[in-house]
Amino acid sequence: MPITGRWTLTRYLIEQRKRFPQASGELNALLLDVSLACKSIARIVAMGALGDAMPGPGLQGGATNVQGEVQKPLDVMSNELFIRMNEWNGHLAGMASEEMDAPKQIPTDYQRGKYLLVFDPLDGSSNIDVNVSVGSIFSVLRAPQDVIDSGRDVTEADFLQPGTAQVAAGYALYGPTTMLVLTVGDGVAGFTLNPNLGEFVLTHDKIRVPEQTHEFAINTSNSRFWEPPVKRYVDECLAGKPGPRGKDFNMRWIASMVAEAHRILMRGGVFLYPRDTKDPSKPGRLRLLYEANPIGMVMEQAGGRCSTGRQPMLAVQPTSLHQRIGLVFGSAAEVERIERYHHEPQPDEAPPPLFAPRSLFRD
Ligand code: AHG
Ligand code: MN
Ligand code: MN
Repeated sequence: MPITGRWTLTRYLIEQRKRFPQASGELNALLLDVSLACKSIARIVAMGALGDAMPGPGLQGGATNVQGEVQKPLDVMSNELFIRMNEWNGHLAGMASEEMDAPKQIPTDYQRGKYLLVFDPLDGSSNIDVNVSVGSIFSVLRAPQDVIDSGRDVTEADFLQPGTAQVAAGYALYGPTTMLVLTVGDGVAGFTLNPNLGEFVLTHDKIRVPEQTHEFAINTSNSRFWEPPVKRYVDECLAGKPGPRGKDFNMRWIASMVAEAHRILMRGGVFLYPRDTKDPSKPGRLRLLYEANPIGMVMEQAGGRCSTGRQPMLAVQPTSLHQRIGLVFGSAAEVERIERYHHEPQPDEAPPPLFAPRSLFRD
């Protein structure tokens, strides 16, 4: 029985491993190195403008990543920390990140292992200048068998695995406290960083997404680009008590997805960054492999749901490393409702009404 406030992350992982007597302990060792990267990022984030993460020699930021987004110095530094903490340990066959166009190879002077690590080193970084919570998101996949056997370089195709293939996933949140929220496929556990010990300590065991909710999160400045099912869902929430939902809703938008995910895990709600018509070249804002899938695994392991709006997120077969996708997650009943709205005939697809121009009942 886990003891909240007493178990460190290390102890939690060791206890989890007992479910798999054959396990080598490599996954645990990898996750501890990921947690070390997160602790290091927490430090530089906490230093803010006092720290070294200001533009300067060797750390310019300001470049544009493969997403076409301007990289902040902290994006670059966080990416470097993920690489540095994980490339040497012998557990990885390769890494991929929001901030790197192509997969990162494990240098040949280090041993190569059986896992792939995919991450968004700093999510919500557009908020960093205004001192709002940001975080890191990570996903662990097993490398294809031929990669493990041959030790060859990894390719983009090796990472194109559906979310159901994730071995572990989670995020760190750099807020008033630093937290690590993790699933290794047996529920979700939350750890709070004890800064005196430098240890993540189990504070939230067996997290469940509350089923009842009256909170939704969406960037309403995009409303004119929304598809009809999303507009319908939000309109019904806004209609409140006299409307079809029969209750009032709150709206929240931090613009830091990892922080929204954490709020929803703690007190329920639903998050939408749906596919919209704003930029036809972008089928959604957020990225499948290092944002939607790891958050999706956490949500589903906590009894919530994660979807593209049309189908379960974790079933999607990825087609590219930096693929964007519509993302809806949170309390299961709300996500199901949004999926249902997407599957119901849309007004322009509806069968003609009885007295429509081509109906039987027309004069
Ligand atoms: P990132 O900082 O990793 O690029 O991701 C930012 C994402 C996500 O955290 C947030 O929900 C979304 O961008 C905010 O988008 P808007 O600026 O459109 O609100
Ligand atoms: Mn992000
Ligand atoms: Mn990012």
